[in-house]
Amino acid sequence: MLATMFVLVPLLLPAPAQSTKPFTVKINSRWTTNVWFDSGKSVRFPCNYTGQKPIFRWYHNDVEITDTIVTDARISTYMASDGESFLDIDNIKYEDAGTIKCVGELNGYSDSAELKFEVYEPMTLKADAIQYGELGRNAEIDCKTAERSGPTGRIWSFKNHTTIPQSEKFDFSGSKLLITPMMDEDLTDYICQVYNRETNRVNRFRITLRCWMSTIY
Ligand SMILES: *[C@@H]1O[C@H](CO)[C@@H](O)[C@H](O)[C@H]1NC(C)=O
Ligand SMILES: *[C@@H]1O[C@H](CO)[C@@H](O)[C@H](O)[C@H]1NC(C)=O
Repeated sequence: MLATMFVLVPLLLPAPAQSTKPFTVKINSRWTTNVWFDSGKSVRFPCNYTGQKPIFRWYHNDVEITDTIVTDARISTYMASDGESFLDIDNIKYEDAGTIKCVGELNGYSDSAELKFEVYEPMTLKADAIQYGELGRNAEIDCKTAERSGPTGRIWSFKNHTTIPQSEKFDFSGSKLLITPMMDEDLTDYICQVYNRETNRVNRFRITLRCWMSTIY
């Protein structure tokens, strides 16, 4: 009885709908909606089809990219022998952000796929790589960063990559690590790992703590 049911169940499910479309296109990428890239890099968007092989057209911010009408030599298209098509953007600039659209056309039928392309500037440290504190007093190491967007979080670690736990001695405040009091053994390198929650990017910066007095000698 039980075995019979197991046999019957799949038969009761509706048959998969037959697609009447001659083909579909898809931007094959781990990036489906948003792409974050540092400027200066290159990116390739692959678009492929299933079904009949269409003729591909690419649009970047509604401007068609063709090999004959070169709007910007950094942006080009390429077709592989299996029919897959690519849009390449070299030396990415901020103005490249926008919509990337791949259109497949055949015998009056068309299908398209698009994604939003975002360009973010690289995260940089906007504080000195060498900072100073006074022995026996508080030391404040600042790991201020500059980038276009996103709420950021920080994880501090010693140069041996051991995370610094919050304690009476080590306190975290915004972009800063406060050391109270600063002792000889604290005069070393610190690693500040900055995480941008919006762009999912992580950067690490090394900051050296030195004794303020030692600069005099
Ligand atoms: C692109 O699609 C064609 C037809 O579906 C297929 O033969 C080919 O392997 C695909 N290429 C890649 C890289 O997936
Ligand atoms: C890493 O360095 C810190 C500070 O110098 C020390 O307290 C900690 O024990 C070290 N951890 C390891 C795994 O060596």
